[in-house]
Amino acid sequence: MRIAVCPGSFDPLTNGHVDIIRRGAGLFDRIIVAILVNEQKTPLFTTAERVEMVREAFAADVSVGVETFEGLLVDFAERHDACAIVRGLRAVSDFEYEFQMALMNRRLNARVETVFMMPAAEYSYISSRLVKEVVMLGGSVAGLVPPAVERRLHDKRARG
Ligand SMILES: Nc1ncnc2c1ncn2[C@@H]1O[C@H](COP(=O)(O)OP(=O)(O)O)[C@@H](O)[C@H]1O
Ligand SMILES: [Mg+2]
Repeated sequence: MRIAVCPGSFDPLTNGHVDIIRRGAGLFDRIIVAILVNEQKTPLFTTAERVEMVREAFAADVSVGVETFEGLLVDFAERHDACAIVRGLRAVSDFEYEFQMALMNRRLNARVETVFMMPAAEYSYISSRLVKEVVMLGGSVAGLVPPAVERRLHDKRARG
């Protein structure tokens, strides 16, 4: 059984994330979406809300699991018997940070390999940050996030 973890903030889940998680699920027997508990980043969605959105999007997919984590990602991976970290790469902007993280994680635990995947071109410009910005300014993100995420974004905006 080959298990991978797909870590991130997922604040909120976008179709770019969904694309990468599905690609990961195609390569590994099981993929665990690992949601970072990051209070300093002051996320728009609570950890529980971020977990629910991923659960809803992958309800039909038994090979995709969801967990939260704090602390070192490689320790989380080890605890879950994962052999790989799956990360998505958009344009050049992601590269430098991802390169540093991958090499640091390897230094911390060489048994866990980082695997990068490219999303479909139509999702390659989506970020959670931009999606939040557009919704808060009254724009539509239909087709860029799962429908349940879109509803929750509009609820947040309505409540201010
Ligand atoms: N549109 C996208 N296409 C492909 N990968 C993406 C996209 N948006 C985010 N990702 C990837 O998903 C992972 C989690 O991203 P994110 O939720 O922003 O968490 P982080 O805080 O770790 O950047 C990262 O590997 C990121 O590069
Ligand atoms: Mg990010």
